[in-house]
Amino acid sequence: MTTAGTIPIAGRVADLRPTAVNSILAEVRATPGPLVSLMRGEPDLPTPPHIVEAAAKALAAGRTMYPDNRGEPKLRAAIAEKLRRDNGLDYDPATEILVTTGGTFGIYAALAAMLNPGDAVLVPDPVYDAYLSPIRLTGAIPVPVPAEIVDGRFVLTVAALEAAWTPRCKALLLNTPWNPTGTVFTRDELAAIVAFCEQRDLSIVSDEIYEAIVYEGNEHISPASLYKHRTVLVNALSKTYAMTGWRVGYVAAPPAFVRAMLLILQQSSRGPATFVQDAAAVAVVGPQDSVAAMRAEYTRRRSQVLAALPHVLPPQGGFFAMLDLRELRVPSDIIRRRLLAEFGVVVVHGAAYGPAGEGTLRVSFASGGDVLEKGLAKLREALRVIG
Ligand SMILES: Cc1ncc(COP(=O)(O)O)c(C=O)c1O
Repeated sequence: MTTAGTIPIAGRVADLRPTAVNSILAEVRATPGPLVSLMRGEPDLPTPPHIVEAAAKALAAGRTMYPDNRGEPKLRAAIAEKLRRDNGLDYDPATEILVTTGGTFGIYAALAAMLNPGDAVLVPDPVYDAYLSPIRLTGAIPVPVPAEIVDGRFVLTVAALEAAWTPRCKALLLNTPWNPTGTVFTRDELAAIVAFCEQRDLSIVSDEIYEAIVYEGNEHISPASLYKHRTVLVNALSKTYAMTGWRVGYVAAPPAFVRAMLLILQQSSRGPATFVQDAAAVAVVGPQDSVAAMRAEYTRRRSQVLAALPHVLPPQGGFFAMLDLRELRVPSDIIRRRLLAEFGVVVVHGAAYGPAGEGTLRVSFASGGDVLEKGLAKLREALRVIG
């Protein structure tokens, strides 16, 4: 047996980073004492029983063979129906929809099918940081577009987009509702962003995974309803149906681009399990009462957060609230570490999502019940002491 040498690691791996949540989890594991986490990025609700039953039935019926790599026809038809029902969008299930292994793979397939080494992609700052490594994996670079806090919400202005733009930019990555900020883009804001993209010949990769979680009359608008021929719409069942572990999502785009993404998918995941796809079809076109119930539950939790904490920017969508602590003039990572070490409460510092998030903290209400109650009590006490 020889022990010489090690397995080589490709240079591109050096550009990949764990997400902020992954890094903080490692810190949390090394921290003693009872901790309460307000960091969670997934619903604490169970998958609705009718979806679980559909999966069990499909499994019992032997739906265990390879799936159609584009997605099972029944699921693609169901997704097309959903896009018409919820978004007023017409996509051909035969050519314009691809079923993916969660939203994560949809984003990866979109970026890998679009970007060449040396390209650039405009990304909002603060950004869901899991977008950055897949951009780098293609050899392209993310270019942050700093957001501003205006009237209690983070906004992306056309002036900021213009200032960040370079001739290498191929696309803008948008996320509405926007993790971590909670902003839901209005139709007028999207129209201005689309006009900028048209002028600069940019495509849009649109991550709409929180579309079902919107509050107080805010409406989710897909950029595809304004710019369909240049938009790659990415969505997943993960948050809407509490199906994070099922790994099922989809992408809708013009046929040539779907063909390109299919080639990427065929070299890698080959799509979610066949019986999972059967259950996913039931989820998207079956009874939607569970979605309304989930929205009502998050609405209650959001009110709880707003009532418990000072300095909250009221989220318009998603299950995160940003605390605006800029007036303390202390780096958000230092505040986060104090909260962890001295008060036993876990949140994510805004700077983890980019410089424009500095001075803020992201508080998750994806967990409710005792966790939320205890976490908010600790956080409230900590802010009284720190602030
Ligand atoms: C904005 C955003 N997009 C995508 C994902 C990942 O989605 P999925 O679990 O379907 O891969 C997340 C998960 O937290 C997210 O917050």
